Amino acid sequence: MGAPRGDACVSAAARADELRRQLNEANHRYYVLDDPALPDAEYDRLFRELQELEAAHPELRREDSPTQRVGAEPSGAFESVTHLQPMQSLGNCFSEDELRDFDRRVREGLGITPVRYMAEPKLDGLAVSLIYENGVLVRGATRGDGATGENITANLRTIRQLPLRLKGEAPRLIEVRGEVYLPRAGFLKMNEEARAEGKKEYVNPRNAAAGSLRQLDSRLTARRPLAIYAYAIAAHDGYQLPSRHSEVLIQLREWGFPVSDLVAVVEGAEGCLDYYQRIGAQRQSLAFDIDGVVYKLDDLAGREELGSVARAPRWAIAHKYPAEEAVTTLQSVEFQVGRTGALTPVARLTPVFVGGVTVSNATLHNIDEIRAKNLRIGDQVVVRRAGDVIPEVVRSLNEAEFKLGDAGSIELPSACPVCGGEVVRPEGEVVARCTAGLSCRAQLHNALVHFVSRKAMDIEGLGEKLLAQLIELGHVKRAADLYRLEVKTIAAMDRMGEKSAANVVAAIDASRQTTLPRFLYALGIREVGEVTALALAGHFGDLEPLMQASADALEDVPDVGPIVAQHLYAYFQDESHLELIQELRAAGVHWPAVQTAAKEGPFVGKTFVITGTLPEISRDEARAWLESLGAKVTGSVSKNTDFLLAGEAAGSKLAKAEKLGVTVLDL
Ligand code: IVH
Repeated sequence: MGAPRGDACVSAAARADELRRQLNEANHRYYVLDDPALPDAEYDRLFRELQELEAAHPELRREDSPTQRVGAEPSGAFESVTHLQPMQSLGNCFSEDELRDFDRRVREGLGITPVRYMAEPKLDGLAVSLIYENGVLVRGATRGDGATGENITANLRTIRQLPLRLKGEAPRLIEVRGEVYLPRAGFLKMNEEARAEGKKEYVNPRNAAAGSLRQLDSRLTARRPLAIYAYAIAAHDGYQLPSRHSEVLIQLREWGFPVSDLVAVVEGAEGCLDYYQRIGAQRQSLAFDIDGVVYKLDDLAGREELGSVARAPRWAIAHKYPAEEAVTTLQSVEFQVGRTGALTPVARLTPVFVGGVTVSNATLHNIDEIRAKNLRIGDQVVVRRAGDVIPEVVRSLNEAEFKLGDAGSIELPSACPVCGGEVVRPEGEVVARCTAGLSCRAQLHNALVHFVSRKAMDIEGLGEKLLAQLIELGHVKRAADLYRLEVKTIAAMDRMGEKSAANVVAAIDASRQTTLPRFLYALGIREVGEVTALALAGHFGDLEPLMQASADALEDVPDVGPIVAQHLYAYFQDESHLELIQELRAAGVHWPAVQTAAKEGPFVGKTFVITGTLPEISRDEARAWLESLGAKVTGSVSKNTDFLLAGEAAGSKLAKAEKLGVTVLDL
């Protein structure tokens, strides 16, 4: 016998309540606390059960049901709503002095010193107002003009972090304020999807968040990875506001709102400035964009005392970081020629203040990037400079459809802009190069700058400008010429005296005695950095065996792959390079031979490769041990390998050794 119908309804209602409670709790644990409580499959099962219950019993549908988070049918237009309290904005400051002025005004207004502030990150998103009646979210709105905003409740409900029902005891009415934003990762994902669907990409996370919140179809909003931080309580009824803002934030956390972990109570202007520096240093690595920090008087009674001016409170201020993006005009594009002849396009811009400095040049990387961004001379472009990063042109603001014909079009030059030499761009490569080698003044200059640099020949006092002059006047045509320079020649250059010229000559002289790794690095062979130079020196011991090595033999050096091996091999095949080396040696450049493997021992003449994780000792220790016994230790297995020393989890090298019949040893 089934239960009477009335009872069934009661139990359905109780079950729906229980499901809502469990699902809301699971949401909070997952999205706010980052501490999931339910396995995904279990969450999905409960969610479907609730959906089915609500479908069967429409009267059980509730505004705080997690089923509301998936969005609903489009609503036509957003209804305009009047805020219970105006949504103010914040005054700004950009410098330490302005911040100190703010602090002085607060101290004088209150007659106390020092002042306790709550410091918070200023998220770059959209301010929202959230009204909860008896603990249930009943209305969410945009800021609008501060007095009236738009009702976007359905959209806000889709934000998983936002409690639809407050946890714990709830007042009759509470209005919470916060910032809706898109984490950077979510923004990148959204743009990736937009690209894949051939749709227009969003300019920055803030615009993407705004676009997502203003969707008339909340089912679309539900698909956007929006997030929220709560930062204030505004209107309230049946609730005793604490006396401090820091306590308000604790209360918001208890009700289930995400509150930034970066908030901190600080004291006086010094505390504010420290906080500004500390958050500024983390700015790049945060998961979201911030455009500054906010300092707010912590004492709520003091806020009443200070009041507001215009539309901003006297008790709070935003301290902005320098903007990382700015708009300016792309005046021209020049191609710079690097050490290896690579042509790099550089944008010449109308100077603009961005990221704390004035920028007039920005890198464009290569011609493909210019094409992809559809840049033309004369375009208004967005320039970005984040932290110490080299400024770059992000995009053009000129619409692609108006860019007809060739006007302003940027082409890869067919001749080197410095020496007129032929420019080639090998099939499949993004980089175009001037083929003139060291007879190109730009390549020579950059090669010499590299040659004398600290990690190379380490010649102090021979700066870029001095080198440029020496080249210009024909005193230096190749590196070896440096060793023939006389004091009087250098002394005749701009801003040079006898004394400094003598110092330069002494530094050049001292560099004659060098080391093999430095010398190899100084040659500027493509893809050969200091680490590879060190490995090559350690492997071959001296220059001659390296110069004689086949590309195959070069690949035996740890960390030398086929591409580097090919560059090395090609370098030593080139007659002009051999001449250069010869000349440098004739000029007195020398180095001691590098200690390689022991000349005697049981493994002399035997080649080992080490792979996998060895028990007890590291691979470096094993290498040193084998070398002390006379072995040569190389990086990859070939037919020249005698033994493979294989540890745990040995992979492809073991397979290759077995295939080639190389003896495999273990420890
Ligand atoms: S408090 C009266 N705190 O910045 C004070 N605002 O112009 C009201 N914002 O649109 C704002 N992070 O949306 C406050 N931690 C934070 C904030 C913050 C971002 C936004 C806010 C407002 C604008 C202030």
